[in-house]
Amino acid sequence: MASAAPGADREWVEIPVSLPVVGQTAAFQVGELALLLCNAEGTAYVLHDECPHVRTSMAGGLIRGVILECPLHGGLIDVRDGAPKGMPIRRSGTCYAVRSNGAALEVKIPLVSGHA
Ligand code: FES
Repeated sequence: MASAAPGADREWVEIPVSLPVVGQTAAFQVGELALLLCNAEGTAYVLHDECPHVRTSMAGGLIRGVILECPLHGGLIDVRDGAPKGMPIRRSGTCYAVRSNGAALEVKIPLVSGHA
């Protein structure tokens, strides 16, 4: 059975919101996929917008350095790799690659996201 090239199951999609100011987040949606654009020290990161604690949105949480504080219970998560950094978050979140196409930011998401 032939295997697809690495990353062939993903595609770059333009992020429909502007990068928020440093330390802030901006929620957006691509098809069914809820995503969170984070500005950590001037660098853009995208997380699945679902807290690993109780699966709620983390929009509105504050970022100090590269650590996002969930606005619901104060759990901490590293926006670079989704690693849990403070209770009650124990599991890792999902991160997506981000790049600039020169005019806008793009995020690399699974092809099966169902966006049109
Ligand atoms: S929902 Fe995020 S820490 Fe509880």
